[in-house]
Amino acid sequence: MAKRILITGAAGLIGAELLKQLYTEEDSFLLVDDFSTGNRKRINWALEQENVKLVPMILGGRAGSESVQRTLTEIRPDIVYHLAAPVGVQTVLSRPQIVVTSQLAAMLQLLSSISKNVPFVYTSTSEVYGRNPKSPLSEDTESHIGSPTNPRWSYAIGKLAAEAVLAHSNQQRYLILRLFNTTGPSQDPTTGMVIPRFVRSALDGKPIEVHGNGQQVRCFSYVSDVVRWMVELIHSQAPWNNVYNVGSDKNLITIHQLALRVARQVADKIGGDDVPIQFDSDYWREGKDAKISIRSPDLMKTRKYVPDVGDGMDLYDIIEEVITFQMLEEPWTVSELVS
Ligand SMILES: NC(=O)c1ccc[n+]([C@@H]2O[C@H](COP(=O)([O-])OP(=O)(O)OC[C@H]3O[C@@H](n4cnc5c(N)ncnc54)[C@H](O)[C@@H]3O)[C@@H](O)[C@H]2O)c1
Repeated sequence: MAKRILITGAAGLIGAELLKQLYTEEDSFLLVDDFSTGNRKRINWALEQENVKLVPMILGGRAGSESVQRTLTEIRPDIVYHLAAPVGVQTVLSRPQIVVTSQLAAMLQLLSSISKNVPFVYTSTSEVYGRNPKSPLSEDTESHIGSPTNPRWSYAIGKLAAEAVLAHSNQQRYLILRLFNTTGPSQDPTTGMVIPRFVRSALDGKPIEVHGNGQQVRCFSYVSDVVRWMVELIHSQAPWNNVYNVGSDKNLITIHQLALRVARQVADKIGGDDVPIQFDSDYWREGKDAKISIRSPDLMKTRKYVPDVGDGMDLYDIIEEVITFQMLEEPWTVSELVS
């Protein structure tokens, strides 16, 4: 039976890929985005289809909340994929109050405007585990969040609050997917996401700036792999009303090593020497960095239903894809105006 599918954050890196992988001619798609970090170019192909409708709006904002609520109520979706969120270190550090309140308010707006039997998929984040040194991190690992007065934690606090609101709501079927570092060619280097930022610096012949001492370990996944795992999980026998980690337990690397790799791969591609690496220790001292030494997912729970979760594109190829995209296109920046 044809479904009405609501995707919030549909012009984002992950939302646009989700739309691509879910798209069928039979279903109709309602895309919500405020284009704060999203880009219309990612969904232009879809906006030409009759069964796709863009609903530009700011979820969880102070202004116009009544009309947002009305519009959401009129959408009457059969399933909700809620991805819209303020993303990127720059956003988080510069507008911490909005980062907390908008995530909470957006969740409340959505829940109060849809029927209780509509399945609700929410993309949360590995940031909610905070500074817990356990490795790998399983879904029941406790959150070790830092002080709420440190803006750095506003993103995790907003996500945790939204998770709690969803889990304690009357929604009959929900899934909370905690995504780990996800990247892809069109990820915006200006929002602070690490791989595109490093690639941009190296392509511009500028030093790569590493926050802190660079010994923090992260794992990276390619956006189409992450979305494929998400979709497989949603359509599997995995019990709803549960939390699942989604990401890669391969591609583990220190941020210093990552910077060196990016410098090398860019130099191989465009010629010349590797750009130098600079360490920004003020960033570390000023508390802007969360000082999370390692963040890697325990995928046992998800793997029961998605056997190949974590087994995605190799880090070398991910970096190659980002370099190629940034060499071919004008970089997409958050300040770019979309008509
Ligand atoms: N990329 C990652 O590494 C990662 C990791 C963990 C979790 N996530 C989560 O996945 C989701 C998608 O992230 P992404 O990487 O695609 O980021 P993104 O910035 O590319 O996408 C977010 C989208 O939401 C839109 N948006 C933001 N606030 C909005 C609001 N108030 N109202 C309407 N639209 C709004 C943005 O314009 C953008 O299109 C987010 O919920 C994010 O927290 C991402």
